Amino acid sequence: MPSLKMYTGEKIPLEMHKVRIVQKLRLIPIEDRLKAITEAGNNTFLLQNCDVFLDMLTDSGVNAMSDHQLASMITVDDAYAGSATFTRLANKLTEIFGTKYFLPAHQGRACEHILAKAYVTAGSVVPTNFHFTTTKAHITECGGSVEEVLIDEGLKTTSTCPFKGNSDTSKLRAAIEKHGPAKIPFVRLEAGTNLVGGQPFSLENMKEVRKVCDEFGLMLVLDASLLQDNLYFIKTREQSCRNKTIREITREIADLCDIIYFSARKLGAARGGGIITNSEKAYKTMRHLVPMFEGFLTYGGMSVREMEAMAVGLEETMDEEVINQGPQFIEYMVNELDRKGIPVVTPAGGLGCHLDATRFIPHVPQVEYPAGALAAAMYIAGAVRGMERGTMSEQRNPDGSERLSEMELLRLALPRRVFTLSQVKYAIDRITRLYQNRGLIGGLRFIEEPPVLRFFFGRLDPVSDWQTKLAAKFRADLGDSL
Ligand code: F0G
Repeated sequence: MPSLKMYTGEKIPLEMHKVRIVQKLRLIPIEDRLKAITEAGNNTFLLQNCDVFLDMLTDSGVNAMSDHQLASMITVDDAYAGSATFTRLANKLTEIFGTKYFLPAHQGRACEHILAKAYVTAGSVVPTNFHFTTTKAHITECGGSVEEVLIDEGLKTTSTCPFKGNSDTSKLRAAIEKHGPAKIPFVRLEAGTNLVGGQPFSLENMKEVRKVCDEFGLMLVLDASLLQDNLYFIKTREQSCRNKTIREITREIADLCDIIYFSARKLGAARGGGIITNSEKAYKTMRHLVPMFEGFLTYGGMSVREMEAMAVGLEETMDEEVINQGPQFIEYMVNELDRKGIPVVTPAGGLGCHLDATRFIPHVPQVEYPAGALAAAMYIAGAVRGMERGTMSEQRNPDGSERLSEMELLRLALPRRVFTLSQVKYAIDRITRLYQNRGLIGGLRFIEEPPVLRFFFGRLDPVSDWQTKLAAKFRADLGDSL
C-alpha cells in the first residue's frame, strides 16, 4: 500500500473510514478524578466509565464496528441447534484459515479453559513465546506450568528488533529436552505478544518453531487473538512477505498450526471466541467440553448477533487498509513520546502504546507496583484509563513472596478505529506533563488482595499523600483547564 505524504513532511496516520455513530464523552475536573481513583482502590479496572475520558484500558470488545458488521447483526438465526448463523461463521473460518472444525466459545479465556482441561495435567509444561495472564491461570489451575522461550531482545523495552515476539528456538529445544516431550502437551505461540507490548513474531520464526515441534512430535497451538496486528507487521516488516496478501500470510500461518484459538473481542472486532483445527482427534478431544461449559456446539455461549458480526469482521481483517489503522495510530503515539524522551516500548507494536514505568518512575520500588502507580497517576493527570502490566498482573509465589515481573508497563490500548488523532494528541500532552512531574509519583500497597488474577479487583492505597500533591501541581500548572 502506498504511504501518505503530507506537504509539511509530517507523518500522520490517516483514518481510512468516517465516523457515523458517536458516543459522547465527559472530561471531569482533576479534583473529581482524584476522588474517583481513590474510590476505585487505585485500580483502573474499578473506575466507572462515566468518569473516564479516554478509555485506553483495553482493545478487547471495544473496537469500532463497521457498517457492514452492524447490518449483519439484524439477519440472524437464533436456533439453539443447527443455526444458519453458526454455519456462516464456520464457513468463513474455513475459507480464511483452511480449517475444517470450529468449536465456539464465549471468549478467548473460555478457549484456554477448554484447551487446558483437555490437554494439561499435573506436571505438564507449556513452552510459549510469552504467556498471557488468563492462559497461564488456566494452565496452572490444571496443575501445569508455562516456560517462556521468548528471544532475549523481547524483554528489552527499547529495541529496533522488528519481531520481539519471536521464540528462541534453542530455548525451546532446551525446555523440551529438560522436561521431556511427554510432559509437554503443546507448544504455544501468541500472535502480537500482549504482555511484552503487542510485539509480533515473524513467519520465518514460526516456521522454525514448527520444525522443532515436528522434531519432537509436539502440537503447535496458536493464540490468534492479536493476529490482525501481527499480520500487518509480517506484511510490512518481513521482506519475504512484502508481495504476499494478508489472506496468503494468514493461510501460511494457519497451515503451520495444529490448533488455533482466538478472542473475537480482538480478532474480528466483535465479542466471542473459538477454537479451530484440522485435526479430528483434537476436535473430538475438546468437543464435549463446549456444551458442558459454554453452550451448545452451534453457539458456544455467544450471541448470534455477535457471531454474524464476527464473520464479517474476520473478512474485513483480510483488508490491509482496515488492519493498518491500529498499528499506525500506535506508531504515531509511540514515536511522538519517544521523540520527547519519554520511556516507551519500542519499536511500536500492536494493541497499544506501552509506557515503561521502570524508567518513567525509577524511584518507585517494584514491590510498590510502579506500573500500577503510573496507571493511577495517568488517570489523575488526564482521565485517561490505562492498564497495569507488571508485578500486579503476576501471582505471588507459593511462599507468599512477590513474583517480580520482567517488565513494568503501563499499557495505553488504542481500540481499533475508536480514537481520533486529536484525542491521541491530548493523551500525549498529559503524558508529557506527567513525565515532567514524575518525581511526585509514589507507590501503592494492597489493602485487599485476591489470590488469583488480583489485578482485576484488588484494591490499593497510595504509600503516601503523593496523589493529592500531584493533583494540586496539575491544578496550579493548568489553571482552570480541565
Ligand atoms: N489471549 C490473548 C493474547 C489476549 O490478549 C486475551 C485477552 C486473551 C487471550 C483472553 O481473551 O479476553 O476474550 O477472554 N486480552 C484482553 C486484554 C483481556 O485486555 O489484553 P478474552
